[in-house]
Amino acid sequence: MSATSEVKRPVPPDIRARKGGTPLVMLTAYTTPVARLVDPHCDMVLVGDSVGMVLHGLPSTLGVTMEMMILHGQAVARGLNRAMMVVDMPFGAYEEGEAQAFRNAARLMAETGAAAVKLEGGAHMAPTIAHLTARGIPVMAHIGLTPQAVNTLGGYRVQGRGEDADRIRHDAAAVTEAGAFSVVLEKVPDVLATEVTQALPIPTIGIGASAACDGQVLVVDDMLGLFTAFRPKFVKRYAELGADADRAIAAYAKEVRARTFPAPEHVFGEKAPGK
Ligand code: KIV
Repeated sequence: MSATSEVKRPVPPDIRARKGGTPLVMLTAYTTPVARLVDPHCDMVLVGDSVGMVLHGLPSTLGVTMEMMILHGQAVARGLNRAMMVVDMPFGAYEEGEAQAFRNAARLMAETGAAAVKLEGGAHMAPTIAHLTARGIPVMAHIGLTPQAVNTLGGYRVQGRGEDADRIRHDAAAVTEAGAFSVVLEKVPDVLATEVTQALPIPTIGIGASAACDGQVLVVDDMLGLFTAFRPKFVKRYAELGADADRAIAAYAKEVRARTFPAPEHVFGEKAPGK
């Protein structure tokens, strides 16, 4: 490896040390080519269980399996050189108890090379987070709107409004105390996300939370305009690749039907004799 290609990849303690500094940049990726695109720009890349909805057409993240996370984690790992990879624990892979959580988190890390796992849940998941971190598994917590709990939360609603704010404060303190190196705050009011960010010693990563968070995460297909089934308010579209792709595919179909594709420059002639 040449001196110029040597990059120090962040590890969870480096991320934790970025509390209050330049905001941390995180995007999801599920495939090698997209991992290669986001790698130069991100501190962390999340192989999110959103893969189920974004790439597999599932109606929620509940149907995502360990096998899916491992396959996509391995694909993303092949495309990363500098960003730290975090892999989501899928629904049903950690809620049974600490032993189940350790077994599956260790498998995710061993088989994908992830530096950390992310799991959803606040105070009730604190014993599991403590169990994992004590055994060498760095945990990014995820509180506020936890999509795996969509059925008990009653939809993808903003969490922590009014008196419910105390629940989010309590969750944030509990996952921090348990040893999480950072925490995703999803869909909580700006003021509450700011307060929690100021109160915690670990970085908060916002999604639909606040610019005051220590970092931000978005689903890459959302921000590129590739996933268009629905669009939460917190998604800013930085490109319209879905519309571009539609135009390109329509042009291809038209040219195939008109026999103008392939053109002479896309086909092969006979090889000249002796060449
Ligand atoms: O699965 C996912 O992509 C996530 C982020 C949206 C935080 O959990």
